[in-house]
Amino acid sequence: MASSKYLCLILVLATLALTDSKLQLGEPQETSITYYIQDYSYGPNATLIPITGVSSDGDWAFHRFGTIFCTDDPITEGLDASSTPVGRAQGIYVTSALDGSNTHVLISLVFTNEEYKGSTLEIQGASPQFERVREVSVVSGTGKFRFARGYATFETVYLDMAAAYSVIECNITMLHY
Ligand SMILES: *[C@@H]1O[C@H](CO)[C@@H](O)[C@H](O)[C@H]1NC(C)=O
Ligand SMILES: *[C@@H]1O[C@H](CO)[C@@H](O)[C@H](O)[C@H]1NC(C)=O
Repeated sequence: MASSKYLCLILVLATLALTDSKLQLGEPQETSITYYIQDYSYGPNATLIPITGVSSDGDWAFHRFGTIFCTDDPITEGLDASSTPVGRAQGIYVTSALDGSNTHVLISLVFTNEEYKGSTLEIQGASPQFERVREVSVVSGTGKFRFARGYATFETVYLDMAAAYSVIECNITMLHY
């Protein structure tokens, strides 16, 4: 009898603890943001470089299965590279489809702007890299984006092939606490 009383007490306390942590989190809020990723994939100031899967002559290609790129692209508020900096898109891309059509995106958006400084978002997914619009997941975040989940679309809105420079419009819709 005594032990079942204790069990009841433990259950009540456990329930209280759970309710308490729920109260601390509050209600999830939805946030949508649009930023621009400035990508330089060639030359001494490249912000995206191939790190494996490069052929012996130093040649590489986005569509070559197994190629892994490391990136540290600037993120800006506007399309123009000289517009207000927001942060950096840091991580890796792996050409993960045998036919080169998909790249696996694994990047953190590391914010440095006034609004989100110190917060990050984790973005991951199979990106159909040659489609006009690519959609991948927002799997988590830190700081203001704790427990974030949602999705991100990427659309190349400017491309200068000769300079290997492109601007990618990134829309993120997510729930977070
Ligand atoms: C690379 O960056 C340096 C320093 O900002 C700059 O002086 C140089 O012109 C840049 N080179 C190219 C090819 O953009
Ligand atoms: C991204 O957001 C911008 C600004 O709201 C909008 O013009 C654009 O159509 C959106 N892109 C996609 C792929 O949804």
